[in-house]
Amino acid sequence: MFILAFESSCDETSAAVVEEVDGELFVRSNIVASQIPVHRLYGGVVPEIASRAHVEVISRITREALDGAEITLSDVGLIAVTDHPGLIGALLVAVNFAKGLASANGIPLVGVDHIRGHIAAAYLAGAGEVPKPPFIALALSGGHTSIYHVKTYTDWETVGSTRDDAIGEAFDKIGRLIGLEYPAGAAFDKLASEGFRQATGTDAPTLAEYEASEAGRDPAMKLPSPALPGETLDFSFSGLKTAAINLLHHLEQTGETLPRALFAARYTALCVGAVAKKLGMAIDRYPDLPVTVAGGVAANSHLRRELSLLAKRRKIKLFIPPLPFCGDNAAMIAAQGYREYLAGNLRDSSLNASALDD
Ligand code: KG4
Ligand code: ZN
Repeated sequence: MFILAFESSCDETSAAVVEEVDGELFVRSNIVASQIPVHRLYGGVVPEIASRAHVEVISRITREALDGAEITLSDVGLIAVTDHPGLIGALLVAVNFAKGLASANGIPLVGVDHIRGHIAAAYLAGAGEVPKPPFIALALSGGHTSIYHVKTYTDWETVGSTRDDAIGEAFDKIGRLIGLEYPAGAAFDKLASEGFRQATGTDAPTLAEYEASEAGRDPAMKLPSPALPGETLDFSFSGLKTAAINLLHHLEQTGETLPRALFAARYTALCVGAVAKKLGMAIDRYPDLPVTVAGGVAANSHLRRELSLLAKRRKIKLFIPPLPFCGDNAAMIAAQGYREYLAGNLRDSSLNASALDD
């Protein structure tokens, strides 16, 4: 069966065709039209501009996705679309487009939770073995920092989450203050690599090696951990963000130059260390379950390295999607859409978008 999927929850419009063969999912096309250059002018996503930009490209990229997969609409057996959470005006573009296509062509339709979609990126074949529930899932994006106990393909429990800002937001906001363009995640990652190298004299050190280095212990760059203390699996990134802002202001007022790379390394070490710590506690709570990591921040090279080490140490299977499937894309929506379809969660033209989480 061919699944045609759409994603327009934020600043990327995407259409993809995924083919299901005996329960395995193969990406046949995955077109992503990014609006980032437009929003960059404003230092963040402008919702009204996002909606308009989705409208402008959705027909064209649908054609590209079908052509890329060498199929026509009559070959499509299922249409899947992100219906929540996200920017309401942006979500509505793909939801209405998908509803129109489904009803005009008599194709079954499913609505997909964006975060479940991110996690389902791990079900896409091509990178070898794929995870099967039950497993532990980490969703790390511009809007989410959550840990889930995924019981079945459609039944999940949130076991930890941020109480304020998301990890991606924490990189974007502080990145902007140190002169990185929106969204700052990827540039922050690079700058931190340079900082880790300066601190330890080696490429890609472990967090333990960094923390043992002189720069890793420098009290002038002391910042709080976003891992909340105690048994909770929750995070809080606002304290780290405020402390980082205060540190930057202090340096500015005293006329000192910010060691940008070392600062990026310290900030990254705290974010990655907090995720590794809470993931370790989740593994204690659900021993032997595999782990998946998803969302834009799953592209972070330092996070990937540290979580791989953790998984090896704890003898846990770890699945992190290849980079093109970490950020927003429609192939991941097709992957979860297939599972919603199997569970009988079909929708009709009453399907509506919602800005909110489940
Ligand atoms: O999942 P995503 O594409 O969109 C949302 O659903 O939010 O995530 C976007 C977030 C942005 O905050 C971006 O800065 C961050 O992912 N990001 C990264 C990296 N690449 C993207 N954060 C850290 N390191 C990266 N390499
Ligand atoms: Zn996303």
